[in-house]
Amino acid sequence: MPQKVIGVLVSGTGSNLQAIIDAIESGTIDARIALVIADRPGVFALERAEKHGIKALCIDRKGKDAAALNAAILEALDEAGVDLVVLAGFLSILDARVVARYKNAIMNIHPALIPSFCGEGYYGMRVHEAAVRYGVKVSGATVHFVDEGMDTGPIILQECVNVYHTDDAHTLAERVLEAEHKLLPEAVRLFVNGCIRVEGRRVIICEEGNGR
Ligand code: GRF
Repeated sequence: MPQKVIGVLVSGTGSNLQAIIDAIESGTIDARIALVIADRPGVFALERAEKHGIKALCIDRKGKDAAALNAAILEALDEAGVDLVVLAGFLSILDARVVARYKNAIMNIHPALIPSFCGEGYYGMRVHEAAVRYGVKVSGATVHFVDEGMDTGPIILQECVNVYHTDDAHTLAERVLEAEHKLLPEAVRLFVNGCIRVEGRRVIICEEGNGR
């Protein structure tokens, strides 16, 4: 089987991108990142990509409407021959054309347990602020496929972390990020190995010994 090709979309620091790069370089994931796209200039994720010899592209969302941004992203992904698109801290919204083109082949990491603290307005530190404010005792990370809605696609993997009364949004974010760094590479590995099947809203992991 030919090696799967991954495109990673980022808007920030890229620690989740780094977790995927590390898993590829250690041989845990048998795939190649063909390209990293950022929707804004100067983000550290682009530097990380370049440092590892990965093509890093900035498609600046500034001065573009959503249709133009999405068209440019779609063109770059298609040109790179991508099988899987990973949103690793990507803050722009992918439109219906991109989602249809890569149906059940775009995954996103969200720093909460969907369907809690997700959807419109829940991004970055706001997610953790809301979780702390609400007083939940657990939060966590979710990797899900991207559909036309916001954080509404089929859930691939989730991991819980405890929330303590001493937490603020920053300490909680750190704990969740640690979970993200395990969960996202694991979801990518399962996808690349052909171990993920989607039945309606449910994702079936069909790896031997893996009952999720
Ligand atoms: C992560 O918490 C991710 O879930 C959220 O933004 C953060 C990005 O972190 N959407 P990084 O850029 O991967 O370091």
